[in-house]
Amino acid sequence: MYLKNKFAVRGSLFAANRFIVASFAIVTLLFGLGGGIGSARFTQEPKRNVEAQKLKNPEPANDESVEAGKKLYQRHCASCHGPQGKGDGSLALAGGTPSDLTDDTWDFGSTDGEIFVAIRDGVSTDMLAYKDKLSDKQIWQIVHYLRSIGPKK
Ligand code: HEC
Repeated sequence: MYLKNKFAVRGSLFAANRFIVASFAIVTLLFGLGGGIGSARFTQEPKRNVEAQKLKNPEPANDESVEAGKKLYQRHCASCHGPQGKGDGSLALAGGTPSDLTDDTWDFGSTDGEIFVAIRDGVSTDMLAYKDKLSDKQIWQIVHYLRSIGPKK
């Protein structure tokens, strides 16, 4: 009788333990999944810049400005973003990954204005502001060049 009871108690304790372990596993799994989905969504969501979206490229979209933009790009940007804008340049300061500027993923917004502001004001310690190195006109020319090598809208 006594023994039987002891087994019964042990049995239910064992069951309780299993239950706790199982719920713990489920909770961890759910949190893990949730976190995974959450962070994946976070990295995919671009940082849109509503003010910058209103800006229009004042430079004419012709061969001349694309060519000027290309020259500026080769001088100032290719070291990180690569000779063709694929993000495969040899240099990246703080270990950041230079964006591929030819795909349709724009972490800081995809309009001309947003790209302009990303270049003018910079976005990180790797991608610094160019407002002291390049005039607005030159940055807009680079935007034209990026459009010429980027995905067609
Ligand atoms: C020292 C390396 C470096 C140089 C030089 C550089 N960039 Fe970047 N750039 C980066 C990195 C790295 C990122 C990605 C953002 C980050 O993680 O810092 C970036 C991001 C960008 C973005 C945002 C892309 C997006 O997904 O929205 C644009 C646009 C851009 N660069 C354009 C340029 C242009 C144009 C030049 C030249 C005037 C230039 N960059 C020069 C490293 C560089």
